[in-house]
Amino acid sequence: MAKVDVNLTDKNYTVLIENGLLARIGELVAAHWQPRQIALITDTNVGPLYSAKVISKLSEQNFQVHEYVVPAGESSKSWEVASELASKMAADHFTRTDAVIALGGGVMGDLAGFLASTYMRGIDFIQIPTSLLAQVDSSVGGKTAIDLGEAKNIIGTFYQPDAVFIDPETLDTLSDRYVAEGYGEIVKTAALDSVDFWNLIETIDSIADIRGHATELSQRSIGYKAKIVMEDEKEAGNRALLNFGHTMGHAIELLAHGDLAHGEAVSIGMTHIMQVFEEHGIADAGITATIKERFAAVGLPTDSDLLFTDAFYEKILNDKKNRNGTLNLVYVKTFGEPAIYGIPSTSVKDFFNNKD
Ligand SMILES: NC(=O)c1ccc[n+]([C@@H]2O[C@H](COP(=O)([O-])OP(=O)(O)OC[C@H]3O[C@@H](n4cnc5c(N)ncnc54)[C@H](O)[C@@H]3O)[C@@H](O)[C@H]2O)c1
Repeated sequence: MAKVDVNLTDKNYTVLIENGLLARIGELVAAHWQPRQIALITDTNVGPLYSAKVISKLSEQNFQVHEYVVPAGESSKSWEVASELASKMAADHFTRTDAVIALGGGVMGDLAGFLASTYMRGIDFIQIPTSLLAQVDSSVGGKTAIDLGEAKNIIGTFYQPDAVFIDPETLDTLSDRYVAEGYGEIVKTAALDSVDFWNLIETIDSIADIRGHATELSQRSIGYKAKIVMEDEKEAGNRALLNFGHTMGHAIELLAHGDLAHGEAVSIGMTHIMQVFEEHGIADAGITATIKERFAAVGLPTDSDLLFTDAFYEKILNDKKNRNGTLNLVYVKTFGEPAIYGIPSTSVKDFFNNKD
């Protein structure tokens, strides 16, 4: 069992990580909430696997659970799905004293969090993340979102949950591809965090190793994210470090039209942004090869033909993180020493191409 405390100005909550935790989810939720109606928001993959257990444990504690199942996948992060869910909750007479639980991956967390933060101006919310990405990253930090077509996460709120309950045993049913994808964010976090965390990454040589170390990897990743979020909840400063690998990654993810998963795009993005900074002599010599080797060890891609094309630069310049004509790029000088490097948008192409 592991615990991470998140202490923010207006809210404190705990992330609990424990194998088999779902068996006592009823009592864990009852420690936070009086009996009430709960909207259990899940998707068509996760619902059939875990809803019955969660509903039965919550019912034992006198919660009245309404399960709302939406199609699995990013397309459920939409106005249409959010609006359908809000209509169902209204029809089921949800009031301000009722609550929402997200059961699923990052898509369920973002969607259910958005709904919880806007339904009747905000009702209580708990996260039960079941994908590795959600367990190591997206369930903590309070960002909620829906997409507008290709514009990802363009509508959203900052809304912290009352608790995050992680059962690493749920990863047993997650595909290897999604495990690798979540691991992309773990490698990112380890590089930002410390030599110590990076040394753990050096011992991970397969998907089985990731699964075997899931509790420790979640605890360390969430611990780092919590520290950053506690310093900068609304991303006015250091929280931007978490975008390491995401500027290039996001551009190629969009250009791949679904062929690259988010974590795969981040793996490619991190490798290449580090290559640029290493070749400029800003990051330590040899660090890119070390990072690349760790991604390759679990089968994550580190290259793409979509990089450095005209369409790639167009996407980079349109990135929502491109502020006032400056593109802020995150790199690590060495493990545990991250920094943000701002360059004028007009110089991006030269910076990426002319590395000497
Ligand atoms: N809010 C944040 O801070 C934040 C941070 C990073 C990413 N995100 C968002 O997270 C989303 C990606 O998250 P994701 O990769 O978890 O996607 P996801 O929620 O689509 O889950 C991936 C797939 O795994 C399935 N799944 C989840 N848990 C499972 C389990 N235990 N067993 C079997 N199948 C399971 C899902 O049904 C889905 O098909 C994106 O929308 C991204 O924008 C949010």
